[in-house]
Amino acid sequence: MTKKEIPIAKGLPLIGNTIPLIKNPYQFFVKTYQQLGPLYKVCVPGRVLTILGGPEANIFLSQKKIDYFSNYKTYADFVQELDVNFAVNLDGEEHRRYRKINELFYSPNKADKYVNSMIQAIIDVSKNWHIGQRLAVDDLMRRVTSTQVALAFLNCDVSDYYQDIYVYLDTAIKAALFGVTSKRELKKIKYIKAKNRTISFINNLIEERKKRGIKTENPDMLDTLLIMAHDDGQALTEKEIFSFTLGLFFAVPGTAAKTASFLMYEILKNPELHEKVMTEVDAAFAKGIPNLENIKNMKVLRWAVMETLRMYPAAFILPRYVKNPFDFAGYRVESGQLIYIALGISHFLPQFYPEPYTFDVERYTPLRQEHKQPGAFAPFSFGEHTCTGARLAEIQMMLIVATLLYIVNPEIDPPNYTLKTTLFSKKSAGLTAVDFYIKTRSRNPLVVSAQ
Ligand code: HEM
Repeated sequence: MTKKEIPIAKGLPLIGNTIPLIKNPYQFFVKTYQQLGPLYKVCVPGRVLTILGGPEANIFLSQKKIDYFSNYKTYADFVQELDVNFAVNLDGEEHRRYRKINELFYSPNKADKYVNSMIQAIIDVSKNWHIGQRLAVDDLMRRVTSTQVALAFLNCDVSDYYQDIYVYLDTAIKAALFGVTSKRELKKIKYIKAKNRTISFINNLIEERKKRGIKTENPDMLDTLLIMAHDDGQALTEKEIFSFTLGLFFAVPGTAAKTASFLMYEILKNPELHEKVMTEVDAAFAKGIPNLENIKNMKVLRWAVMETLRMYPAAFILPRYVKNPFDFAGYRVESGQLIYIALGISHFLPQFYPEPYTFDVERYTPLRQEHKQPGAFAPFSFGEHTCTGARLAEIQMMLIVATLLYIVNPEIDPPNYTLKTTLFSKKSAGLTAVDFYIKTRSRNPLVVSAQ
């Protein structure tokens, strides 16, 4: 049977769909889905991109039928540049092995263990702030999330290196994963310096840990990596230990930091929501440092996190290499090509979310539960590579915003600022808030007691 031709989005000669893709890519993908359905092609100079999106695509991804996609080929240039393996770039048995190790550290039942150090990290970052301190939120969140994972998982201080790690990974993501900048960026001195500093930071950390002695009682992630063995009894290789350690900084600051910036913006911009969240925050911190239960009890804040994940998905679109051909919505998708799964299209469809461009935490109340409709909510993706740290990420973002609200009661600066975003820019890969600043208004002391 002859299959239909995959429809192509209308565009201009030569530049195709470049303008709407630069101006407002999310809206362009959503509108094109509404016009053409869940499978279509878009054109940019020199490239035709196949997009699979909407609830149909999310459901397809969540059904483990046969192995249509390969992450190995998708991420090959990126991990080759970094000389690592992360779970996300592996397929099959090797992927399952890596995923199992990640679950040891990132699964939701581990969250309790990290709460104190994650709050301590925020106290450390904020220790020299004065009332009226002006803070660039994008950098602040990157610094906070990097400090948190360094302290919680590795028991180390990353303050002298977090910018290097960021420049290193961000440049490699843009040049070697998404191809939105030239690979020449990987030859520039700024990048090479950041790369060398990151590599020596992690290698030194590992070497010092070996010298200091590995803790077997209450070990952190690095201790565990150094003492553990695979199912066949083999210890982890040096490359594996390095990869899992760097993997932390790949998985967290690029996603949780950006999402926490948007969460902070939406809360501070909306007085009614701000007031409700502050009531929860004051209750959670009433007796000092909150525990996991206190954090989980902040219902409105949790809904705000979910609404932020819906409206500002860090992973709106994921590249995938087609390993085996498949039929989808009456079309044939051939193997041997890269396609893009637009997970986030569903997040903006009015059939799931009335007034989809309005930030509305009530969507998650027990009566509405709009995100529970099949394929409607996909911030952490679906299927074999679904985010291992999803629950931890939600708790981490609640912790960051609640703690900052409690200790410094910030306001947007200037108060009339309205959110500007960029998807790919010189400074960042992925959806990022631009020129967003906050100013601190108080200093509430908070002390984490030693465990
Ligand atoms: C807002 C925060 C986060 C978002 C939106 C997010 C989203 C995602 C997405 C979409 C993927 C799938 C990538 C792909 O298949 O190509 C993924 C994978 C992954 N995420 Fe997250 N993530 C977040 C935070 C975290 C955190 C805090 C951790 C760990 C502490 C984490 C650990 C991982 C790991 C290990 C994978 C690879 C899973 C695999 O391939 O088996 N993520 N994440």
